[in-house]
Amino acid sequence: MATDEKTGPAAVEVSGGLEAAREAFKCPAMSVAFDGPGEELFLRGTMMRLDGEEHRRRRRAWGLLIKQGKHKFYRDTWLFPTADAALAELLAEPDADGFARVDLSVWQPGLQMRLAAALVGFDEAKSAAGAAELARLSAAMLSGRPTVYKTAMGKVDAAADSLRTSVAARDEIIARFYAPAAAERDELAARFERGEIEEEELPSDLLMLMARRLDPAWEDAETREHDALLLLATAVDTTSKSVMWALREIFAWLEEHPGEEARLTEDDFIMRAADETLRLHPVGAGFPRIATADVELADGTAIPAGATTVIRSGPANTDPGFYGEDGRAFDPDREPADGAPAYGLAFGAGPHTCFGMPIVMGTGGMDGSLVYLLKILLEAGIRPDPDAPPTPPVGPTRGDFSEQTTHAPSFPVRFPVAP
Ligand code: HEM
Repeated sequence: MATDEKTGPAAVEVSGGLEAAREAFKCPAMSVAFDGPGEELFLRGTMMRLDGEEHRRRRRAWGLLIKQGKHKFYRDTWLFPTADAALAELLAEPDADGFARVDLSVWQPGLQMRLAAALVGFDEAKSAAGAAELARLSAAMLSGRPTVYKTAMGKVDAAADSLRTSVAARDEIIARFYAPAAAERDELAARFERGEIEEEELPSDLLMLMARRLDPAWEDAETREHDALLLLATAVDTTSKSVMWALREIFAWLEEHPGEEARLTEDDFIMRAADETLRLHPVGAGFPRIATADVELADGTAIPAGATTVIRSGPANTDPGFYGEDGRAFDPDREPADGAPAYGLAFGAGPHTCFGMPIVMGTGGMDGSLVYLLKILLEAGIRPDPDAPPTPPVGPTRGDFSEQTTHAPSFPVRFPVAP
């Protein structure tokens, strides 16, 4: 384990390939219980910071959001209508030349925020205007919030102005969006307890599960606030960026395959393009853990007890043993080797596997949020706006899993609108 003079001991890197990363994600001695400056403001007590039985209990309670018919409910009540309406609004206002234009890096988070608000139960953000306001505050909160990576590496500056701005945004979100909705759910939970209303009459969202204290740890007010903010923080940027990377990849592919435009609206092509995108553009540069015991992975990586460890899904997702020698290329016709998910470890693995994965990927058809959004945008004829300044080429970002490239740049697009 190397030591950096300014930051103390460097992290152990798990970057050997698919098997090593999967093993590390699943290893019970790889803890997520980080603490440090800033944690008391954002993530302490959340599902993302719990190990073992506490984590299992919390995850079961959260799981009621998407269990059985709930995913279908979310899909039919929120995903399909909200996405369709947002696109219709956009196409209703074309420019004089007959094209409707938008920057996806602004439009996508607004739309994803409406979907996330429905899951959390932030009633005031279910409208386009409310969601835009929450997206603005959430962006301010997240831009100054210490990343898991920085907390893990002991690089948080507790006195930084950016942290103060972030905390101010968080407080505003709690006051304007969280507090009124949570108070309403508390009242409903009390009425339900008294037998005055049926379970079916309760809203299907995280705030309601918390108001019912379905995990006893939700007695703690700070834990409830932190879990609500966690859902926003994990749901919005991740899916937004993946939609944008997928479209950038698809248009780069089309330039190299000009005769194959018809494939862009085929379900099978869209699903494969989504998988390849997730594989090549992870949402985080690395996923930190602390070893609670000495660990030796099957590839020989030695992790001493107490060491901060960073699991790199990037090298795993381009492991030539599973994805071939051209694993860094975008190829929607790729057939990965047996045992390798087409999307690599984009959603992690083991106990902390992405909670939102069933929402993003759906049930094997076109009902996941990622493929559904890609499908309606491609069917509406979305293309990069030729008049907008070019974004850096997508090629070099593939398989470059630095913090820089996990942030999708602005992406102006246009749609032809029939007169
Ligand atoms: C393209 C979209 C997404 C990708 C690629 C993605 C990726 C990931 C990854 C890699 C992890 C594991 C982190 C770790 O092991 O340290 C994770 C965890 C998580 N994700 Fe996602 N995510 C996406 C969308 C979502 C959505 C839409 C939601 C909510 C509806 C969500 C909620 C969560 C939560 C709550 C966790 C923490 C789970 C736990 O600690 O048990 N994610 N995600």
